[in-house]
Amino acid sequence: MYRLARNLLFKMPAETAHELTLDLLSAASRLKLASFLNTPVPDQPVEVMGLKFPNPVGLAAGLDKNGDHIDALGELGFGFLELGTVTPRPQPGNPKPRLFRLVEHEAIINRMGFNNMGVDHLVRNVKRSNYRGVLGINIGKNLDTPVEKAVDDYVICLHKVYPVADYVTVNLSSPNTPGLRNLQFGDMLKELLATLKQEQKQLEQKHDRYVPVMIKIAPDMTDEELYEVADALLLAEIDGVVATNTTLERDPVSGHEHACEAGGLSGAPLTEHSTEIVRKLAERLAGKMPVIGVGGIVDGTSAAAKYQAGASLVQIYSGFVFKGPELVGEAVDAITACMKSEVKTDSEVKPEAHKVEQSPEE
Ligand SMILES: Cc1cc2nc3c(=O)[nH]c(=O)nc-3n(C[C@H](O)[C@H](O)[C@H](O)COP(=O)(O)O)c2cc1C
Repeated sequence: MYRLARNLLFKMPAETAHELTLDLLSAASRLKLASFLNTPVPDQPVEVMGLKFPNPVGLAAGLDKNGDHIDALGELGFGFLELGTVTPRPQPGNPKPRLFRLVEHEAIINRMGFNNMGVDHLVRNVKRSNYRGVLGINIGKNLDTPVEKAVDDYVICLHKVYPVADYVTVNLSSPNTPGLRNLQFGDMLKELLATLKQEQKQLEQKHDRYVPVMIKIAPDMTDEELYEVADALLLAEIDGVVATNTTLERDPVSGHEHACEAGGLSGAPLTEHSTEIVRKLAERLAGKMPVIGVGGIVDGTSAAAKYQAGASLVQIYSGFVFKGPELVGEAVDAITACMKSEVKTDSEVKPEAHKVEQSPEE
């Protein structure tokens, strides 16, 4: 079904097709037709950060920035949805065109620039939705907020989404907001993490509910920088890390008519690089913090590779655009097979990095 629709959708400009697909999905959901469109996804429950996920394959941030399509996306078999990125105030994002498909490479280049309707709109949508699965909300800063004041935007968003989110992801890694990625390093990172942790503690008391906070990082950093980030996250007792966002790399798609478009590259050309980042990160974190692996999951093999590299959960975006909802089940099956083979050989192998340490009280 999706393959047929894809032929039509891919004849349209990428952003038009994106919006139309989500509108059609929502219409199908409202008419209770979603079950005809989707293949059932097997259960593979996992527990991460104290949250129970029906399966480890989630939707990555950016597809439903405003939470306008939660119920429809929630019927596609994902183990969890991550909405956003939202910013405190609505903003239009970059001028169009800003989204490019590189079909031969199963890749996307985007420079959307956090186009979104603002955090209040998203929170309203979450409250209205019937979705009862695990919900992550990804937060960012407005374009016109100086990087030195970014922490204020994150705090505003954290306060607003905390009561309705199961976990919150702090996006420090979009390449399309000037200066944002600088927040991943040095004192700026340490100060931001300390503030977020403090706010999280206060919000926990206020709402009598602990909501894990994760940090989303870019793939474009040296090993040294990556280890520095990992150490800072551990020190600040952050709950988890999402790796990775899109890359500025262009070598894998060089020669393509869109290769020189500014923005972040995602999809198949990102697979290996982001898996390597997950592997190095998981090794450094040594099971003390979970990793959500995202970047170039386009089939079961690439989903399994993220799990084997140490990811406790995975997310997909570009692969979903090229393969449709079938990819969710394929990814769950592949990860399930890895888990089963691990159980069989458990007595012989060393513990995997993705088996996150339980704290004593758990
Ligand atoms: C069009 C588009 C928009 C995106 N917007 C966001 C966003 O708002 N926030 C975010 O954290 N990541 C965003 N991402 C990054 C994805 O969540 C994901 O990290 C990245 O695309 C790598 O995964 P993939 O190869 O499966 O697409 C976006 C990606 C694409 C393609």
